Amino acid sequence: MAFECCSFLVTLLFICLRNYNTVLCSNNYEQDPVTKTMQDFSGYPIQDSHLPSSFALLSVDSESLQKQIDELSTFSDSPAPSVTRILYSDKDVIARRYVKNLMGLAGLSVREDAVGNIFGRWEGNEPEIGAVATGSHIDAIPYSGKYDGVVGVLGAIEAINVLKRSGFKPKKSLEVIMFTSEEPTRFGISCLGSRLLAGSEELAKSLRNKVDNHNTSFLDAASFAGYEKDEEKLSSVFLEKGSYSAFIELHIEQGPILEKEGISIGIVTAIAAPASIKVDFEGNGGHAGAVLMPDRNDAGLAAAELTLAVEKHVLESESVDTVGTIGIMDLHPRAINSIPSKAHLEIDTRDIDEKRRNIVIEKIHQSAIAISKKRGVKLSEFEIVNQDPPALSDDSVIKAMELAALELDLTYKLMISRAYHDSLFMARISPMGMIFIPCYRGYSHKPEEFASLDDMANGVKVLALTLAKLSLY
Ligand code: GLV
Ligand code: MN
Ligand code: MN
Repeated sequence: MAFECCSFLVTLLFICLRNYNTVLCSNNYEQDPVTKTMQDFSGYPIQDSHLPSSFALLSVDSESLQKQIDELSTFSDSPAPSVTRILYSDKDVIARRYVKNLMGLAGLSVREDAVGNIFGRWEGNEPEIGAVATGSHIDAIPYSGKYDGVVGVLGAIEAINVLKRSGFKPKKSLEVIMFTSEEPTRFGISCLGSRLLAGSEELAKSLRNKVDNHNTSFLDAASFAGYEKDEEKLSSVFLEKGSYSAFIELHIEQGPILEKEGISIGIVTAIAAPASIKVDFEGNGGHAGAVLMPDRNDAGLAAAELTLAVEKHVLESESVDTVGTIGIMDLHPRAINSIPSKAHLEIDTRDIDEKRRNIVIEKIHQSAIAISKKRGVKLSEFEIVNQDPPALSDDSVIKAMELAALELDLTYKLMISRAYHDSLFMARISPMGMIFIPCYRGYSHKPEEFASLDDMANGVKVLALTLAKLSLY
């Protein structure tokens, strides 16, 4: 009921804004509409019931948004059209500056926490109530595209601009968040910033001695980028449950469904459960010509056998929802005429059914043990880096997103996110929801990633209206 009421108030606001020239004249109402509160507007009668859409005023500057996306994509360590932006690299630092500048231009007050999660706040009339937050990430895996995460950060800032231009005044504060390292590229930890925000003691502890492939510690890398060097301060990132009254993330779908079905908006009801595993095998190595086959214990072949075992165990679930990927396989010493003495694998496995995914993880573990015994190699590491449960969107946020799409006359469907997002962790401390927009052929994590201006504008509008509703709710 409160929601319908809220929705009505928001509708009224925009209808009034659309007509505000007439309304201002006829009511001799001299206040600047930009400084009006929702309550000021709520008393206006609807002037014209034949208006095609009162939300035409939610005007997204999609050309500027595209320009910003293009500009951000130039802060990359790989050539266009690919984007590579790794946590705390020079390019990441420049990109962060770019985002903070845009937040400032949007009139947001900007702060950063110890690991570089960036927050831009628009204070509402009731700042003591938990803010309504939105955001995503701007880090990009090697040779990826320019829309993953970025649409949810720059689009969120544009949603704030849209609301400001429309004259909206928030009741609950609105906040844009740029999360640190959603991608696991540098330290192997996905959703690092949001995981910490959600209070992961385990992560805060493990970050004290995490190093990247070049043996640079997390804390040294963070301090290079201007963030915390003191391990004791990592827990200062934790947020209390209730710090936010809602969190919404705008993202490209990263799958083909919306485009294929010609639907403008995906409303995410749940995020699949991700897990990642690191495996190391060690053998004796040796000369590729001189060591005869019966005398070998080849770590590379053990790794190769495990990759096929992963595929087998995933397929054994007999569900298309179970997936497994071996995206990293490194051999040592990496010489054509040397038997690999070390092999390192990183395995990503996910499912919408957590139990089924856990069965796959257990089977992979058993296979790794069996392969090491059979081949006489040492299984020197089998580390489950993360084994996260799925997350459900909150009904109140889903409802607000659905109402927003309906009022904007946009087609939408409820769907599951098979990719993970910072929302997976924000759901631990706040009611959560996600808005998906179509992307070309569902491409993501590759340079061909693309979302159209119209689809982005629709996503930003739905986000803006959802933020407005939840701010007043
Ligand atoms: C996010 O980048 C994912 O891999 O799902
Ligand atoms: Mn990604
Ligand atoms: Mn993403």
